[in-house]
Amino acid sequence: MIRKPVVFITGAGGEIGHGLIARLGQGGDRRIVTLDVNPLEGSLRHLVDREFTGSILDTALLERILAEYEVELVFHLAALLSTRSEFTPTTAHHVNVEGTLNLLEFAQKEGESHGRPVVFVYPSSIAVYGVPDTEVRARTGKVQEDQFTHPTTMYGCNKLYCEELGRYYARHYKQLSAEPLAGRVDFRAVRFPGLISAMTVPSGGTSDYAPEIIHAAAKREPYACFVRPDTRIPFMAMPDGVEALLALAEAPREQLTRTAYNVAAFNPSAREILDVVKQAFPDAQITWKNDAKRQGIVDSWPGDVDDSAARRDWGFSPRYDFVRAFEEYLIPTIRRRYAS
Ligand code: SER
Repeated sequence: MIRKPVVFITGAGGEIGHGLIARLGQGGDRRIVTLDVNPLEGSLRHLVDREFTGSILDTALLERILAEYEVELVFHLAALLSTRSEFTPTTAHHVNVEGTLNLLEFAQKEGESHGRPVVFVYPSSIAVYGVPDTEVRARTGKVQEDQFTHPTTMYGCNKLYCEELGRYYARHYKQLSAEPLAGRVDFRAVRFPGLISAMTVPSGGTSDYAPEIIHAAAKREPYACFVRPDTRIPFMAMPDGVEALLALAEAPREQLTRTAYNVAAFNPSAREILDVVKQAFPDAQITWKNDAKRQGIVDSWPGDVDDSAARRDWGFSPRYDFVRAFEEYLIPTIRRRYAS
């Protein structure tokens, strides 16, 4: 039996998966196989070759996919986000860590079976950082990849550890084994800031206040923002997030000097987000209702990150700054979406 070469996307029905499938579908030159616990939305179905509904913890299902498809590239997007993970930390650990381990094993076996390392792209997060206090946060400015890597959430711990696990699979896997290895997984990670999509709303994250403000205003629904108006963390528009994943996947291996790269585009305060949203939707009903626990999580994340390594090594260059993200992408797309 000849297996078919494909791109494999886990968590395909989530926010990033949605954007990534739509973008890959435009080119039409990649065969896409997806895995998600829920069936894909109708609008994505015609863009994928094969959709599997199931869990990344189901190793029998992964074996079946391994037998049928020659996976050249993995986007392992499935995860429980930061707020949700605090309510169910052991479940988060199962899904985020054991799930990633399963996918790394899967990619290793795929690579061994077709004789080339599988490129494995992993969305890590600003949640890997734990900045100790507001004074240090203000003094530090742009945080570099190796600073403050002491996360305060289960999700952040999971992401940081999985970066290391990926690095292990890429560099040291079975180093004492007598069996010859046909290459190792080619693991690459981006540490995403908050992502804002015009097409979907996230669920279970802590940076969710930004997309929630925008989508609620467009839908004319009241919304109580759970962080203080002066809260400031980095964000990126979803199309730039998707381009970052694709650019990192395509970068020549020898140009990569790190396992995990910061990426970011703009870092408005919650108040600044509300101000631009109110200009577009003057009757938006947004109020402030602080949730001390979720506030504590975003306060432990950097106010900004240094993404110069990503710019230098693989040409990261986001199209959307704060003004363009809202004026050219978010507001018009969201307006059209809810008008129809
Ligand atoms: N957006 C994510 C979250 O809020 C961070 O990576 O959990």
